[in-house]
Amino acid sequence: MNILVTGSKGQLGSELRALQDSHTSHRFYFTDLPEFDITDADAATAFCREHAIGAIVNCAAYTAVDKAETDVNTAFRVNRDGAAVLALAAKAVSALLIHVSTDYVFDGSNCRPYREDDPAMPCGVYGQSKWEGEEAIRRIGPSYLILRTSWLYSSYGQNFVKTMLRLGSERESLGVVFDQIGTPTYARDLASAILDILERSDPQTMYAETYHYSNEGVCSWYDFALAVMIAGERSCRVNPIETADYPTPAKRPHFSVLNKRKIRQDWNLEIPHWHDGLLRMLAEQELVKRDAS
Ligand SMILES: NC(=O)c1ccc[n+]([C@@H]2O[C@H](COP(=O)([O-])OP(=O)(O)OC[C@H]3O[C@@H](n4cnc5c(N)ncnc54)[C@H](OP(=O)(O)O)[C@@H]3O)[C@@H](O)[C@H]2O)c1
Repeated sequence: MNILVTGSKGQLGSELRALQDSHTSHRFYFTDLPEFDITDADAATAFCREHAIGAIVNCAAYTAVDKAETDVNTAFRVNRDGAAVLALAAKAVSALLIHVSTDYVFDGSNCRPYREDDPAMPCGVYGQSKWEGEEAIRRIGPSYLILRTSWLYSSYGQNFVKTMLRLGSERESLGVVFDQIGTPTYARDLASAILDILERSDPQTMYAETYHYSNEGVCSWYDFALAVMIAGERSCRVNPIETADYPTPAKRPHFSVLNKRKIRQDWNLEIPHWHDGLLRMLAEQELVKRDAS
């Protein structure tokens, strides 16, 4: 199958690229800005026709959660309109669209893990733009799988783990919020799940499903930071602080743990624990640094 990966220079796209050698029966087209802009409708459909694309994995997104509060138009153009463009392109060539969304479509007022059919109620522009992207896909109606994930990190790109490693070397102590609860997700594990699903998907079936995928387990950003410091052998002390003590332009959900029962059952996935993912990412990070030097 010919597979188009958009936003392929980002965290998730880079992880898919890193895994492509174990899926040699597929031909991957890894694309990103500036040569492939998901908001360019004519170009997206033409590309899919020209390369007989059988599946699109949309890793492209506007992911700057705080910046989105003021850069509203760009966030909606990429996260809502870009998703719609890819849905139309997928429909035009009868391709499966795998679209990645976020736990930030929820407001965090739940006290049990969110299921796919819980009502979305985003508390910021980023979450709202991602939710409207999901809705556009459902409305346009190609064969689609929407995968919501949370707290993504990777050895590629910038993320919380890398920030903690850097600050852990620079500072003696650090305050990290302990009243936002969720699950970190190693982008390598999500990429692997996506490839597994693609492998087992049936090109004749019209899919119209939303799934939750994160690593297993639950923690606060404080717990996560502490785990990074310990595993990364940083002596920096981590202090628990409240969200109110660390104001950010975008409001974030206090609780955004995702219930993954549906994806586990439908696709028979084994999902690693977040701490296991963290250790593998740190090992990979060393590898990536050695390769680059
Ligand atoms: N990061 C998280 O914590 C997190 C959590 C939950 C869900 N998600 C979702 O997971 C998915 C993957 O996230 P990620 O962390 O891998 O994102 P990322 O690292 O920010 O990568 C996104 C990629 O998309 C590119 N892009 C932006 N606008 C584009 C456009 N108009 N056309 C084509 N490409 C464009 C970006 O290029 P530039 O860098 O040049 O802008 C970047 O290379 C996204 O859908 C995101 O919403 C992420």
